[in-house]
Amino acid sequence: MQTDASLLQSRPLAPSFGAELSGMPIHGDVSDDDLRAFVDALHRHRVLLLRVPGLDPADLVAFSKRMGPLELHAAVEAQHPAHPEIFCVGNVVRDGITANFARGIEQWHADSSYRETPSDASLFYGEVVPPEGAETMFADATGAWDALDPAMQRRIEGLRAMHSLATLYDWNRRHTPERPPLSEAKRALWPPVSQPLVRTHPVTGVKSLYLCPAVISHIEGMDPEESAALLDELTAHATAPHFVYSHRWRHGDLVVWDNRAVLHTASLFDHTRYQRLMFRTTLAGGALAA
Ligand code: OGA
Ligand code: MN
Repeated sequence: MQTDASLLQSRPLAPSFGAELSGMPIHGDVSDDDLRAFVDALHRHRVLLLRVPGLDPADLVAFSKRMGPLELHAAVEAQHPAHPEIFCVGNVVRDGITANFARGIEQWHADSSYRETPSDASLFYGEVVPPEGAETMFADATGAWDALDPAMQRRIEGLRAMHSLATLYDWNRRHTPERPPLSEAKRALWPPVSQPLVRTHPVTGVKSLYLCPAVISHIEGMDPEESAALLDELTAHATAPHFVYSHRWRHGDLVVWDNRAVLHTASLFDHTRYQRLMFRTTLAGGALAA
């Protein structure tokens, strides 16, 4: 079935970013025109919401693959048993699924920053969603850069930070002690990488703050205290309420975000009372290059 891309309708989610799209088919046979309209909308709005209750995980994977190669998540145990490209998030353990559970408090990041070339975009589907809590929050990292005072912009432009899976594992285990430690094999596979603190979007050219405080071990050339203080200050600025859209999930929501222009974080839910199961596909870095 083909849909005329001009039928795509959008409604804003937050004042400076985010849009709900309707009329977008989510499956592998989507037309080239629809796909192009979708990717253009992602670059323009940076966070997209689609309502697709009952979406087949195979269609999520096939649709995602139309945009480019997908990452396989480093947490292999949380891959979907039938679709390794799907990273399962939440607390559900059933049918061969062991969702990745983290009790972390707000932990702002963009996905897979510990990879040499981090992910371009992620697609996140609400299969089982708690009736309260578990919002996913998004911060306008571009607006936050624009709003920094020029002296701070001059101070941080050109700085680089070391991102490391080991730092993230340590952080997670402080909040969720039952999580497994990082294996030596994974440590060797994912050595720390250097990323800019201010990044430029390869398609839109806009600058944004690249802040992943739980993944960054330090800013290069700074001692740990100075580095932590600067990261704290920038993160507090970028995640102030006027830069944040908080998504309340319904079953069947598909939220797609541009990792190169927004930050995001999970929030808490009562995991002793509620079930949560989310399916994530992750577009590899460079998939959406101009
Ligand atoms: C992710 C993520 C947020 C959430 O899966 O990349 O950050 O609300 N999830 O679970
Ligand atoms: Mn994430």
